[in-house]
Amino acid sequence: MLSQKMKDALNKQVLMEAQSSQAYLAMGSWAEIQPGLKGVTQFFFRHSDEERMHMLKLIHYINERGGFAVIPALEQPVLTFVSLKSAFEQLYKHEIKVSESINNLVAISLEEKDYATHNFLQWYVLEQMEEERLARDCNDKLEMIGDDKSGLYLFDRDIMTLDKG
Ligand code: FEO
Repeated sequence: MLSQKMKDALNKQVLMEAQSSQAYLAMGSWAEIQPGLKGVTQFFFRHSDEERMHMLKLIHYINERGGFAVIPALEQPVLTFVSLKSAFEQLYKHEIKVSESINNLVAISLEEKDYATHNFLQWYVLEQMEEERLARDCNDKLEMIGDDKSGLYLFDRDIMTLDKG
């Protein structure tokens, strides 16, 4: 059985994952109307789906442990970006915040002596490491590319095959 504190904290994470999914959905929609960003568009939409999966995993866990997962209202995310680089910078910043939030959840699970939740959260800890690495790689590449159109072409092509593994 989850403690009230653990339940509340996990429900806050449901909101965060839902907001992440919305944010990347908006990035996908923005990228889709830019010329030559087919790969990036696909990447953002896929990433949005992954965040939804992170949210669902939490929802099922909360409910299975005797809590009640609250489906949250969502704020409208940022809709447009001055450049692809700025979209990826936001994505990276966002992932860092998510990692902090996961770390905070892990700390609460230890405080509450909730070792099942601690164990459950390890998947998220690893996932965040990968997401941060991926976002950092994309930012580094875009930094190198600058305004070089052929570099951007290759970035868009390569991101379609990018995997977190
Ligand atoms: Fe589920 Fe990228 O945080």
